[in-house]
Amino acid sequence: MKLFLDTADYKKIAECSVTGLIDGVTINPSLLKVQNEPPLKIVQEIIKVLPEAEISLQVTEQDPHKVYEQAKHIVNVADNMLVKIPCHKLYMPVIAQLIQEGIPVNATLVFTLNQAFELAKLGVHYISLFVGRLYDNGVDGLKVATTIQQMLDTYDYDSELLIASVRNPEHIEGALALGCDAITIPVDIFNQLSMSSLSDAGLEQFKQDWLQGPHKQLLE
Ligand code: G3P
Repeated sequence: MKLFLDTADYKKIAECSVTGLIDGVTINPSLLKVQNEPPLKIVQEIIKVLPEAEISLQVTEQDPHKVYEQAKHIVNVADNMLVKIPCHKLYMPVIAQLIQEGIPVNATLVFTLNQAFELAKLGVHYISLFVGRLYDNGVDGLKVATTIQQMLDTYDYDSELLIASVRNPEHIEGALALGCDAITIPVDIFNQLSMSSLSDAGLEQFKQDWLQGPHKQLLE
């Protein structure tokens, strides 16, 4: 499963990148709102630390014609850019046109199986399901994710399910269990993934046992 960071904070992305675990970054207008630097500079800084990563940058225009033009601009920034376009009836023709032109689309703001079905038929690269916002609205987000993954598998669509709006580590375990292709997570959740209180306790035990044992060197 590909692991993306859901942030526009390139300094934090640089810190996480050293783990070798990050496959990409997803950026939307809300994430840009809290960064005080031009979006283009942010993308360029991300590329410096993650030159091979997939970067999904969301359109900010609303008019479909302008969305199309902005999408073309976004993919010209670098080789590995994807265009995030909100799932909406207005934008389906734009998405179809971009896909015909070979431009990779990450369809965002997806909440239902029927939306995912339409997007898969169009051939978007990623279907970004907002699992956390579904739970916020009393819907079992991972259950919706399961039905979408089953739909993609049953009909052999090329689109990949990307779990987004992740709120806790359990959402990641749920995504792994259902076998989806990708997930995007906030940095604070990424930083929790390799942690376990049992690992910490075990580490301390090993340290004490080594210090209390008879040996001075491990390999001499
Ligand atoms: O990629 C965007 C998505 O993850 C939004 O998350 O927390 O604003 O619902 P959130």
